Amino acid sequence: MSLAGKQILLVIGGGIAAYKSLDLIRRLRERGACVRPLMTAAAQQFVTPLAVGALSASHVYTDLFSREDEQDVGHIRLARECDLIVIAPATADLMAKMANGLADDLATAALLARDKQVLVAPAMNPRMWENPATKRNVACLKADGIAFIGPMRGEMAESGEAGLGRMAEPLEIVGAIEDMLSARSRPLQGKKAIVTSGPTHEPIDPVRYIANRSSGKQGHAIAEALARLGAEVTLVSGPVTLADPAGVNVIHVERAEDMRDAVLNALPADIAVMVAAVADWRVADASTHKIKKQPGEGPPALVLAENPDILATVGHHQARPRLVVGFAAETQNVSVNGRAKLERKGADLIVANDVSPETGIMGGERNSVRLIYREGEESWPELSKADVAAKLAEKIAAMLGNA
Ligand code: C5P
Repeated sequence: MSLAGKQILLVIGGGIAAYKSLDLIRRLRERGACVRPLMTAAAQQFVTPLAVGALSASHVYTDLFSREDEQDVGHIRLARECDLIVIAPATADLMAKMANGLADDLATAALLARDKQVLVAPAMNPRMWENPATKRNVACLKADGIAFIGPMRGEMAESGEAGLGRMAEPLEIVGAIEDMLSARSRPLQGKKAIVTSGPTHEPIDPVRYIANRSSGKQGHAIAEALARLGAEVTLVSGPVTLADPAGVNVIHVERAEDMRDAVLNALPADIAVMVAAVADWRVADASTHKIKKQPGEGPPALVLAENPDILATVGHHQARPRLVVGFAAETQNVSVNGRAKLERKGADLIVANDVSPETGIMGGERNSVRLIYREGEESWPELSKADVAAKLAEKIAAMLGNA
């Protein structure tokens, strides 16, 4: 999409990821956008206003108390004379100030004076991202309607630590900007969707559980893609290490039975997409205390009980959503098994994928799927999980439109 004529106020916070903002400026300008950069004092320790100014071909705003800057546009106009405000990188400090309405420098004053949408691309050490204070601030900003892209999982530049905290790549940020500014219709506006994602954990005792290798990447991407098309999405997520997707109401659960309850609570809905790898069985009588290893006694026998089938429950529910979509992780006979699942679970569409270990799909970044409908089938080429999600959301919108 072209961003011709779009005016972006880019707030650059102080983090090592600020070097990526230089590339972000280039990518935005390539697409025709005008970028007005605003740097915090800390940002100037990482990249220079000279480089930012040269790449953006714009004055670089840095100082709330600069007579020149305030006479030129002033922090109020700076915040208003744009189509979108992007904060990249957004530090924990900047988010904390925003969440609490502080305004002690040009960036925070402009952010407080804004009347435009804001997209935040956080970047920080994973511990800082996980800190309860940061979590509270992020939840607060999301509740205020602020959009997020990332942080992503990866290795940190400074410490080599791995975890959630890496800033989204410039092109990912550009994609999110395009989505927010696109005049494209939002075909799922006014529609409610429920998505399940991730594995479930079935307790054996308070410290042990049965789990599976699902990462939640595909389900989370679908929740986000449906929200982008305007749906009001409730994502019921099992235990995953992913950040909550932007613009989605997330309910975190552990066990299949909790997932079922959360899904049924979220009804009525127009769309249900059940992506979670729900454990088929739970331990029939999970112990309330840690099971001790007893010398001389053999290992305990685990007696399993069948878990509720959430997809089938929804597919046959009296408040059944108009469109029910299931997934089928198969290692063989993908088509035949997928079609049988469609019937058994009362779904309108089964997205079948081959999860044989050699495909690397489980936990990986890419997916290759076959769509099985009542009246036909289609295969998609191998795509990233984000692209599968975007295509599937479009498909869902089309199916609802035709129904
Ligand atoms: O039967 P199977 O587990 O292969 O079915 C996969 C589909 O059913 C997925 O959409 C999954 O989310 C859903 N499912 C469910 N509850 C279960 C088992 C599977 O919702 N207990």
